[in-house]
Amino acid sequence: MLKKEVNDLLTQTGPGTPMGELFRQYWMPALLAEELPADDCPPVRVKLLSERLIAFRDSAGRYGLIDEFCAHRGASLWFGRNEEGGLRCAYHGCKYDVTGQCIELPAEPDNSSLCRRIKLTAYPLVRVGDVLWAYMGDPAKQPPLPEFEFALVPSTQTYTSKRWQECNWLQALEGGIDSSHVSWLHSAGLRSDPLFKGSKGNEYNMKDLKPFFEVVESGGGLFVGARRNADEDHYYWRITPWVMPNFTMVPPRADHPVHGHFWVPIDDENCWVFTYDYHPVRDLTPTELQAMKDGHGVHNQYVPGTYRPLQNKDNDYMMDRDAQKRGETYSGVRGIAMQDASLQESMGPIVDRSRERLVAADAGIVKARQMLRKAAMALRDEGKTPPGVDPAHQRIRSVSIVLPKEESFMEGCRDAIAVRPGVPQTSV
Ligand code: FES
Ligand SMILES: [Fe+2]
Repeated sequence: MLKKEVNDLLTQTGPGTPMGELFRQYWMPALLAEELPADDCPPVRVKLLSERLIAFRDSAGRYGLIDEFCAHRGASLWFGRNEEGGLRCAYHGCKYDVTGQCIELPAEPDNSSLCRRIKLTAYPLVRVGDVLWAYMGDPAKQPPLPEFEFALVPSTQTYTSKRWQECNWLQALEGGIDSSHVSWLHSAGLRSDPLFKGSKGNEYNMKDLKPFFEVVESGGGLFVGARRNADEDHYYWRITPWVMPNFTMVPPRADHPVHGHFWVPIDDENCWVFTYDYHPVRDLTPTELQAMKDGHGVHNQYVPGTYRPLQNKDNDYMMDRDAQKRGETYSGVRGIAMQDASLQESMGPIVDRSRERLVAADAGIVKARQMLRKAAMALRDEGKTPPGVDPAHQRIRSVSIVLPKEESFMEGCRDAIAVRPGVPQTSV
């Protein structure tokens, strides 16, 4: 349970809010690289942390992320012409480069200094892997580029999708931290989904519906260990890393690709869910890649031409009560991503956490909220750089493993939780 002030603090990420400032310390996934596929391609509207921006790729292939609205009289630059090294407002022809600098002001006399003095808000936008990352904070504190493994492995080993989710980022993130729901909500998917099925771990998952949670702080966030019974002498552990503020990674199953999410605030009532799937040491097979593109695993299908899920709240997520009765799905909603999204959106745009009744299995969520709050306060009051900014904190992996009962999961997983190039994930 959270007091209203704390809930507000954690859920509000606009400019000037403590959590908004916290988010602005990190590189954030802003777009998929596929959204700006070529030099001088159409610009894309981007709303991030409640700021309305325009992303474009100029004639020289440089990426720009600038204020959506023209400095002249405020027209949206989404209507602009992207040509000859800049984005030109379609209204009266003001032109901006990727740094937001006005480079032409046609309505002014030739020697006007006004043009040089006009600069739109602009943020660096860079490609790492299949994602374009934005840094929206103080330029003097810009951190090194992200080093999450999914973005660094060769492109043949990784796939990222994104979807719009119609709720606050925090309740979406909390679904990524809480792995106790898997044995319920996703139970049918463990048996049937091509990107999940066939692992020994699934059997443990299904046999023990009451995992015990142990949460350990990492440099950049948490390792949330879910312990289930394996046999008389062993436990089956699933280790979910959370890297502050909004990166989670699902523990692997057999040799399937490993996946996880970034939960990126669009504004306080919407978020982007960037979903990655990669294998540390081998190419994704054509079958796996096709399954991801078809919306299996943690991906989803779309309303054509958009990043809105095909199953969404306007069509009740295509709820199928008969499939539920037949045991094909647990909730009646098809697909792991939309099973999560449907329930998280059902809580309302920003869930009222003063009314919740947390249980033991929510230990990871409780700890994550405490750490977010503490980091936001330390940043505000002491200017302290939060955990997770340092790329060393990002070089981590999720793990699934069977350990002797007497062994602590952090001891048993010491090597497995680190990125080791050329070494596969530790998985059961
Ligand atoms: S509003 Fe953009 S040039 Fe006039
Ligand atoms: Fe889930």
